[in-house]
Amino acid sequence: MAKGRKNGLYAGISDELSALMRTGWADTERHDLTLDEQAPYAALRRAALSARFPGERLVIPSGNLKVRSNDDTYPFRPYSGYVHMTGDQARDGALVLEPRADGGHDAYCYQLPRDSRDNDEFWTGAHAELWMGRRRSLAESAAVLGLACRDVRSAAPDLAAADVPTRIVRGIDPSLEAAVTTDEARDDELEEALSDLRLVKDEWELAEMRKAVDSTVRGFTDAIGELSRAVASSERWIEGTFFRRARLEGNSVGYGTICAAGDHATIMHWTANDGPVRPGELLLFDAGVETHTLYTADVTRTLPISGTFTDVQRKVYDAVYEAQEAGMAAVKPGAHYRDFHEASQRSLAERLVEWGFIEGPADRAYELGLQRRFTMAGTGHMLGLDVHDCAHARNEEYVDGVLEPGMVLTVEPGLYFQPDDLTVPEEWRGIGVRIEDDLVVTDAGHENLSADLPRSADEVEAWMARFAG
Ligand code: GLY
Ligand code: MN
Ligand code: MN
Repeated sequence: MAKGRKNGLYAGISDELSALMRTGWADTERHDLTLDEQAPYAALRRAALSARFPGERLVIPSGNLKVRSNDDTYPFRPYSGYVHMTGDQARDGALVLEPRADGGHDAYCYQLPRDSRDNDEFWTGAHAELWMGRRRSLAESAAVLGLACRDVRSAAPDLAAADVPTRIVRGIDPSLEAAVTTDEARDDELEEALSDLRLVKDEWELAEMRKAVDSTVRGFTDAIGELSRAVASSERWIEGTFFRRARLEGNSVGYGTICAAGDHATIMHWTANDGPVRPGELLLFDAGVETHTLYTADVTRTLPISGTFTDVQRKVYDAVYEAQEAGMAAVKPGAHYRDFHEASQRSLAERLVEWGFIEGPADRAYELGLQRRFTMAGTGHMLGLDVHDCAHARNEEYVDGVLEPGMVLTVEPGLYFQPDDLTVPEEWRGIGVRIEDDLVVTDAGHENLSADLPRSADEVEAWMARFAG
């Protein structure tokens, strides 16, 4: 009799039960699966990657489940570079680009195949399909991805055996990483390339970004509709309301939702969301739906909980709005990536000097970065499969680069007056405002994908009057 697990209620598996479990199963192989609509785009992305590394084997793992405790795991999220190059979301997979003599590559994909019913793994193993859900067979994956697929259980010995110059993305799959001998600096170049190649989105990706933003807009409207229930409970009501929309229309949220009421709004990444929601204060709400294909939006609105801004709240709001307008005006092809950040920051510095919170003149304050006391973060970032997308791209391609049509980025200036900041009048303390939209660079300039959400102070008040529940 096979041994049972510690503290399991069964002592083991009898030979009779084992034999019973192995028999009587229908053949469920699917022969109807066709090429995923993303597959031709993924093939073009692989061709671009291949061109950068002639003669070298490239290994791009998808990642493994992470244990939360005992046999409980965190939700799996594949490595974005793998998703981009394959369109696949399987765990325990790896894309391999195998070099050819002509300088190109042949691509294939390691996958965890279906469990055999000839042993007990399918119902007792660590990845047992009867517990975790059915996986695709290798043939099914090949049909969907348009890639030859191999059993990942032979990946480590296969990769270790071949004497081919190899690069792997590190930090994703420890067992594959241990199987290959690579150079860290050269591996970093592979990760950089995978980030670089995501800077400009293809048309399929742009359509997904629109879906992410459209769902997010609906999630914001849901949240406003339930504001009174948040007032009666806590910030968590808003978080949960948005999460329902994200799970219904997409995969999940693309990052930890920020529901920051009152002085929590001055904390850039407030995700505890366990505070009270009080009329008279502001609610800074920063959230994004991640699509089923793992592209995320990232939008912020700052709302007066009672429906109208106080004079001081409106002053801060209008300053952030102006800074966002200045930033968005600088988003166009050929502009430097930094331009929108600088335009927003200059605008904020001018207001802060005018209010007497930092010493002028404004140009000097900006050059010295004095506005950063009240606005610590950059004014935006690339957006896509990751909320802070393309984070490993080369500086010259990203922050020191030039905007091109197809890039998607956030413009999100903010002002944050800490509750214990003695340099500002008391009624300003504890006010935080951020306005964040998702822009795609177009041939003519840009399109604000999140333009359906009201943005100016007047529009926000009118929106609240119509929808706030
Ligand atoms: N939600 C994180 C950010 O705005 O960058
Ligand atoms: Mn953002
Ligand atoms: Mn955000």
